[in-house]
Amino acid sequence: MAEQTEMVPVFIMGKRYDVPASLTIMKAMEWAGYTLIRGVGCRGGFCGACATVYRIKDDPKLYFGLACQTVVRPDMYLGQIPFFPAKRAPYDIKAIKAEPATIFMTYPETLRCLGCGTCTKACPQELDVKGYMAAAMRGDIEKVANMSFDCIMCGLCAARCPAEEPQYNIAIMCRRLYGRYLAPRSEHLEKRVQELHEHKYDEELKALKALDMAGLKALYKERVIEK
Ligand code: SF4
Ligand code: SF4
Ligand code: FES
Repeated sequence: MAEQTEMVPVFIMGKRYDVPASLTIMKAMEWAGYTLIRGVGCRGGFCGACATVYRIKDDPKLYFGLACQTVVRPDMYLGQIPFFPAKRAPYDIKAIKAEPATIFMTYPETLRCLGCGTCTKACPQELDVKGYMAAAMRGDIEKVANMSFDCIMCGLCAARCPAEEPQYNIAIMCRRLYGRYLAPRSEHLEKRVQELHEHKYDEELKALKALDMAGLKALYKERVIEK
């Protein structure tokens, strides 16, 4: 006899649905008949479009997750936040400098952070959001860039912040500043790009493209590996 699929009750927009226990929140919503147009993107945990908050019956805690990554739990009450309003300041990356004043001029609210840590608890990427905000308050652009590197811009931190901070927008500005002005330059890479502009490899690429699979495999085996 075929094994029975275990079903669990979840509540979507307040309505109960019994869904297979193995589904993610996103698949459960689709299984229940919803067609997702907003609040869905990559389905792989990268785009941040499917930020979701939920409660579990009789549990006072508020939970956060990505709908495409979080598996359903019994008695889950779901609420999706495909968009949460947060300030996004206009700036021209070519016209601003990688210095602390840029953070404070572009996002003066940075200094309003209370250090409560609610943002860190909300982050589905498990980033130390409070920590990178503290670095932003010190004007440490490099640290903000490094600490926020895995941010997927889902907005859950901003949705929970009592000081109305747009944490992820402050962080992406710092990553842009770091990438453009502070990150060490790779001489090798710049040299290679220059060579490409000078068409140095055109002939070699043409010859490669003309090879069949056997020829490519032979070439791969013969390749010289630099020590
Ligand atoms: S939730 Fe807001 S106020 Fe609290 S630590 Fe995070 S950024 Fe600061
Ligand atoms: S820092 Fe904020 S926007 Fe970025 S992944 Fe974490 S909760 Fe989402
Ligand atoms: S759909 Fe992209 S993170 Fe979930």
